[in-house]
Amino acid sequence: MPHQNLAQQRLLIKGGKVVNDDCSVMADVYVEDGVVRQVGPNLNPEPPTGLIVLDATNKLVIPGGIDTHTHMQFPFMGSRSKDDFYTGTKAAIAGGTTMIIDFAIPQKGCSLIKAFDTWKSWADPKVCCDYALHVAVTWWSSKVGTIEEMKSLVQNKGVNSFKMFMAYKDLYMVNDEELYAAFSCCKELGAVAQVHAENGELIAQGAKKMLAMGITGPEGHELCRPEEVEAEATQRAITIANAVNCPLFVVHVMSKSAARVISNARREGKVVYGEPIAASLGTDGTNYWNKDWAHAAAYVMGPPLRPDPSTPGFLMNLLANDDLSVTGTDNCTFDICQKALGKDDFTKIPNGVNGVEDRMSVIWEKGVYSGKMDENRFVAVTSTNAAKIFNLYPKKGRIAVGSDADIVIWDPKATRTISAKTHHQANNFNIFEGMVCHGVPIATVSRGKVVYEGGAFNVTAGEGKYVSRPPFPPYVYERVKQRDKIALFKFLFWLGFFLKEKYCKYMK
Ligand code: URP
Ligand code: ZN
Ligand code: ZN
Ligand code: ZN
Repeated sequence: MPHQNLAQQRLLIKGGKVVNDDCSVMADVYVEDGVVRQVGPNLNPEPPTGLIVLDATNKLVIPGGIDTHTHMQFPFMGSRSKDDFYTGTKAAIAGGTTMIIDFAIPQKGCSLIKAFDTWKSWADPKVCCDYALHVAVTWWSSKVGTIEEMKSLVQNKGVNSFKMFMAYKDLYMVNDEELYAAFSCCKELGAVAQVHAENGELIAQGAKKMLAMGITGPEGHELCRPEEVEAEATQRAITIANAVNCPLFVVHVMSKSAARVISNARREGKVVYGEPIAASLGTDGTNYWNKDWAHAAAYVMGPPLRPDPSTPGFLMNLLANDDLSVTGTDNCTFDICQKALGKDDFTKIPNGVNGVEDRMSVIWEKGVYSGKMDENRFVAVTSTNAAKIFNLYPKKGRIAVGSDADIVIWDPKATRTISAKTHHQANNFNIFEGMVCHGVPIATVSRGKVVYEGGAFNVTAGEGKYVSRPPFPPYVYERVKQRDKIALFKFLFWLGFFLKEKYCKYMK
């Protein structure tokens, strides 16, 4: 039975440094009924009986990570991703992530609401941490009522983000007219529009060309869709979103070129956010040329990792400087025999990589340990910004009185070596194999319960909760609303001027 022992659970995290996105303070944290009740020095909550104490001396106490992009048990490319909502969320908490946002993805012509209900029915009995669902808009019909479905998802199901695919031709891809309609609808409803930004037509043509040349291996996957294919779609999505003043979130930013497009747009004042993922920050596309086919195929995902080995460092710089905003993983794992569906044709290799367990450590290692960002920026890009963009803040993404007690005790000095032999994910390959990471989660607290500590789990399937997200996140929409107001004011001013001129002429 879920949450049976949460009501009584009282927890004190003692002696640590509480790190939020804007400051760090030495403080204890007292938690009751899953919620943070006190943050301050030398707390001594009464009565002492029944109080669980976690020692955080010399450790950081950080908001649990929020992974903005996962695909657990996703039926995709003739297979189903290996991590389900149980193994995937268990791996998440082992890595210091206490919330995931997965994607409900309908087939073309199928109901968005039905897809949402299906994904939720898969997740509810299995999740070990809190979760939410983005919904994909894979087709558009004004007759069948896509708008009504989106409206109902926002108003009745707690969805405030919709993903549109510009790739996967004939499967999920929508055209510019459909993008325009979907963005307009998101704007109307106060939702965040998300895009998978790749030019699906160019990919289809490029893949044909590669196969005709006899390039059938994983390297063909990158060669048929070079960086500009991602950058062009990113620019196009930003242009269309800007035309309807809709905030845009570009998922899985994989290349320098696409990141530059987002960075430039932000500098021009556009409301756009970029999400690099653990894979694009921690490894690169040189792996597609590995002589071992299984190794190379394990890195196949869309958009692809880039062969330029300076890409991860470049993306991390932009993440540190707020050109890019949040991190996800696109965790969508397929084991080696599933990947083998594309043994003779790279277009048939199921797309997806791991990351949900290792994201926090990879970003600490490549971002904080390397000196590119401080501990506060780390919290911002692994948790707080996601909570703000998707309207979960300050319930999630912050350690403060009244916030959900989703907390990680983080040892910045400890190290661990990532390996498929020791990870908790369901697949038998890890794209970060052998990476030594400073920054280790010592304990993970989900809604006030210690669900993971020192390598041991104390959690059962279904303990996590679905989290509703209201529309119009202020972090995203305040600027948008004000721009609309000013535009209306300018229009009315112009109209007044025009009418006055007209009447004056008649009166003369
Ligand atoms: O390769 C990927 N990214 N697999 C999951 C589907 C998607 O596009 O996010
Ligand atoms: Zn995608
Ligand atoms: Zn994805
Ligand atoms: Zn298998």
